[in-house]
Amino acid sequence: MKTTSIILAAGQGTRMKSDLPKVLHPVCGKPMVWHALQAAQTVTDEKPVLIIGHGAEQVREAVGDAARFVIQEKRLGTGHAVQQAESTLKGESAFLLVSSADMPLLRAGTLSRLIAAQKANSGPITMLTIITDDPRGFGRIIRTEDGRVKAIVEEADATEAEKAVKELNVGAYCFDAEWLWEALKRIPLSAKGEYYLTDTVQLAVEAGLRVESILLEDAVEAIGVNTRIHLSEAEAGMRSRVNREQMLKGVTLLDPASTYIGMDVKIGQDTVIHPNTFLRGKTEIGKGCEIGPNTIITDCKIGDRCEILASVLEKAVLEDDVDTGPFARLRKGAYLSKGVHMGNFGEVKDSHLGEGVKMGHFSYIGNATIGAETNIGAGTITCNYDGEKKHHTEIGEGVFIGSDTMLVAPLEIGDRARTGAGSVVTKSVKEDTLVVGMPARAIKTLKH
Ligand code: UD1
Ligand code: CA
Repeated sequence: MKTTSIILAAGQGTRMKSDLPKVLHPVCGKPMVWHALQAAQTVTDEKPVLIIGHGAEQVREAVGDAARFVIQEKRLGTGHAVQQAESTLKGESAFLLVSSADMPLLRAGTLSRLIAAQKANSGPITMLTIITDDPRGFGRIIRTEDGRVKAIVEEADATEAEKAVKELNVGAYCFDAEWLWEALKRIPLSAKGEYYLTDTVQLAVEAGLRVESILLEDAVEAIGVNTRIHLSEAEAGMRSRVNREQMLKGVTLLDPASTYIGMDVKIGQDTVIHPNTFLRGKTEIGKGCEIGPNTIITDCKIGDRCEILASVLEKAVLEDDVDTGPFARLRKGAYLSKGVHMGNFGEVKDSHLGEGVKMGHFSYIGNATIGAETNIGAGTITCNYDGEKKHHTEIGEGVFIGSDTMLVAPLEIGDRARTGAGSVVTKSVKEDTLVVGMPARAIKTLKH
């Protein structure tokens, strides 16, 4: 008895006032529709079907092969939207799980309870409801005197008495598939000119069939995004969920309220995250690190026991025991081997720093390889760009680059060489050689 998920995502989302389709607005760094698909696909048997319309091409591109797509040409309501999937899905599954892409906080566990309840229901519908004082424009659940679900009344069509009802339709259902395809053909056109999926409830009740409901306990799951205010609520709800999971796995967050961790981020045990820190993309952080405050890390891999203070890191790799900052900037292709110390106001891009390299103060290292235990003096710059091309700088092991050295690439500096303060190195330097001046000249062979 298989289940397929149908996720509604064709609406325009007018109230977002956005050029971006509503369901592509991110929550904790992932489009809302990603969250909806993630939850649905873990509890169903076949690839979910996404009903798209407004901004269809953009949505299709963003979602890729995580869903099958069905286009709803005219947005004639939620019932009409589901109906569009009939030719794709008829005969595939016994149960259809229907939800909306603008409810990013609905948990897989809740959807799975919904499916289980419908599997036990002799009637054709099980729906998710919530009891709350804030009606938020949701449909009201109307019950008979003996407490059975009788109908869902949309707020626009509700009487004052119906508006006072505190039990609301969350907008997630599990249906008997064959019954639903037939029922959708019989739902009436509403006063708003739409075919409401919610009217299937009344059809079932009129036919003497059982409509079951399960109650959602965590109101946060029912946050539906129609405006940017709701979007910020969804963001806060998801963020607190992600942060709690990290804390339960052994990560200390000194101030969860100012800690922003993406859905795919992995953090090792006993790492401490300080306030105002953003960990994004596919970032992985090892054990026992100190991260932040005031740090942004995107798509980086960081080893154990690293200290990253007030720095901005993107697409960089740090081995164990590296420390950076305050005010370090690592860009794409920066690789800092074990024990590298990178102090304040440094920038590294497309460069490999060997074990134990020290660059303590305001330097730029681009397109370079630096051997182990080399010291980069304050103010050192790899002049890697000649206005047209980038050139490589190769620095050996145990080298001492004096303060304010300009390394005009392409260049090679041999092991244990030294440059004098303020030198402008335009030619390669042999190992164990001291160069000084502008342009730098060899003045001495060094004995070590
Ligand atoms: C719907 C429910 C309401 C429930 C609420 C919960 C109906 C008639 N009402 O109302 O009872 O409390 O959700 O959020 O179902 N969509 C389409 N095609 C359409 C129309 C809508 O794909 O033609 C999609 C939207 O993009 C959205 C979802 O369906 O993802 C819900 O549509 P929306 O217009 O937001 O319904 P509500 O008025 O919120
Ligand atoms: Ca809605």
